[in-house]
Amino acid sequence: SIARTDATGGTLDPEFLAWQTSLPIDRRLLEVDVAGSVAHVEGLVAGGLLTREEGDELQAALQGLPGKVARGEVELPVEEDVHMAVEVWLRATVGELADKLHTGRSRNDQVATDLKLWTRAALARVLAALGQLDAGLDAWIARWGETPMPAYTHRQVAIPVLARLWVGAALREPLARDRRLLAVVEDEIADSPLGAGAIGGNTLPIDPQVPARALGFARPPSNPLDAVGSRDHTLTLAFACARIGQHLARFCADVIELSSDGLVTLSGAVACGSSMMPHKRNPDLFELVRGQAALRQGELVALMTTFQGLGTGYHRDLQQDKQVIFASIDGTVDCLKMITLGLEHLDLLPEPCLRALERGDAIATDLTEHLVSIGTPFRVAYRQIGALVASQRAAGKRLVELEAEDLRAAGLPLSLLEQLDVGASASKRAARYR
Ligand code: ARG
Repeated sequence: SIARTDATGGTLDPEFLAWQTSLPIDRRLLEVDVAGSVAHVEGLVAGGLLTREEGDELQAALQGLPGKVARGEVELPVEEDVHMAVEVWLRATVGELADKLHTGRSRNDQVATDLKLWTRAALARVLAALGQLDAGLDAWIARWGETPMPAYTHRQVAIPVLARLWVGAALREPLARDRRLLAVVEDEIADSPLGAGAIGGNTLPIDPQVPARALGFARPPSNPLDAVGSRDHTLTLAFACARIGQHLARFCADVIELSSDGLVTLSGAVACGSSMMPHKRNPDLFELVRGQAALRQGELVALMTTFQGLGTGYHRDLQQDKQVIFASIDGTVDCLKMITLGLEHLDLLPEPCLRALERGDAIATDLTEHLVSIGTPFRVAYRQIGALVASQRAAGKRLVELEAEDLRAAGLPLSLLEQLDVGASASKRAARYR
């Protein structure tokens, strides 16, 4: 049965009761909820509202609960949410003493605390997954980093680069910025909500420093209305996840295009086949991760629109934040892991890369700069090489097929013939960048 939580004697419609419960979702908060309660008990003991013995008994019962639930020894009672489920279980387990647990506390400061503690662990999961991807990137760069490949503008071959610059741009640098954004979340979850009560604190001798310190928060709440109503850290986190999603999606788009151009191959471990066409090896992993960016963006928007227009303090709308931020974090961690796996099975094809650079006349800008280096004004050199590209193409040839005769006909220096190596161009250009 689902408990009625109002003390005025009102009886809720059972269908409504069943519909409004958040237990199927927020049972995931059990561990942090118990940790929060254990810290709250510490505050009650310090304030003389519980004896040390009472505190010890409550804490021991609470601390044993997550393990019992995990081992299937205890089934959480079906209540309005995880907070009520724990209290009801505690009452059934230790008896009347449990009636003192919620002294000076509301589910509003309780859930705000739970969410911050959960977010702390979630941040650690995302950072660990980012760290693994970083290690995967190191390995990929060690294998392929000095390989020349095309850089594209407008999806057209532009200029020779080294592969380390491509993965650096696609993953390493943006993810390093995302990590700095996650540090902002860390700062936003530094203050403890416990003590804020429902919205206005309490009148009891409970020092909020005590639970704050016990839970590893930097400080107690500075404003109880803000402490129960703010979900800024959830928004910042969802935004960081959405941005990580976009960064991964862009990398995926690159891989999918490079794969369709035949410049990379995926080993069978991550390439999917077709149920009909026997020759297919499709980059499904990268398409799925690219698709997930849409979900991360949707989660961010769902949170923003849930929070917007709410007045100060706690509103039940806020209950909706959990399922969204859980999905955002789980999805982000999974995608980071999948990209780490994908990188392990992503091989660059050096020869096709060189051919693509040659076919795409990627050396044109180098030739222009060579003319500049021997005294030709840039715009003049630009036009001369442009004309050379046009005449080569008219003859069905590429710039790398230039011969002395072509240059003589165009009135251009033969030294250009020594500038046609696309691989050397990539190394020269990349030398300035780590
Ligand atoms: N289950 C709620 C949530 O997840 C917390 C309970 C607050 N409920 C209330 N009636 N004030 O946000």
